[in-house]
Amino acid sequence: MKRGKISGLLEDEDFQDGKKRIIVLASGRGSNFQAILDAFSKGSIFGTCVRLVSDVPGCYAIERAKLSGVPVTVVDYRAFPSKVAYEKALLFAMKECSPDLVVLAGYMRILGNDIVRSFHGKLMNIHPALLPSFPGLHAQRQVIGYGVKVSGCTVHFVDEEMDSGPIILQKCVPVLPDDDEDLLSERILHEEHRIYPEAVKLFCEDRLKIEGRTVRVL
Ligand code: GRF
Repeated sequence: MKRGKISGLLEDEDFQDGKKRIIVLASGRGSNFQAILDAFSKGSIFGTCVRLVSDVPGCYAIERAKLSGVPVTVVDYRAFPSKVAYEKALLFAMKECSPDLVVLAGYMRILGNDIVRSFHGKLMNIHPALLPSFPGLHAQRQVIGYGVKVSGCTVHFVDEEMDSGPIILQKCVPVLPDDDEDLLSERILHEEHRIYPEAVKLFCEDRLKIEGRTVRVL
């Protein structure tokens, strides 16, 4: 990386140095995006964050991208007449970056099958529970409601079903007697910020091999 380069900013050299090209999709506060950016700036991931794509104008993830010099594309869901039209524009914006890896970091929409198929084996998500338990929205609330004693987070490849793709990394946290949704979410988020950059790092080192439902870490 060139001296003095702002972390994450794409330059011509990034097309030639063998680094993986990563794009991040986010809709909200972007704390996982930040954890990944921090890992990039420490030099611990052999990759470059070439773009943030967001469906929510003004979300804090965009601010984080700007602060780190990462280019941003906003594909505002509300500006399109249909989900099909939105997804077409989103797919175009994604393909334009020629990414090696697409990282969903709090992207709050279900990706259509065209996009999922276009990035098969190159699309990762993080979920705030131990999949296959508690998929879907408000996982931490579901966990508290069910009364389980252990939860955690899961990084997985994305397939056509919701929260169902091959699991890359998981981390457990205890569910404590006095936990509410916020306390548990905070404990899980702390671990998300560790395992998501780790999964991206493993991908960038070509150390993730998908064999059926199993992801082998080489
Ligand atoms: C995280 O809890 C993640 O597991 C889920 O959405 C949340 C995003 O948080 N997919 P942030 O935007 O990364 O702070």
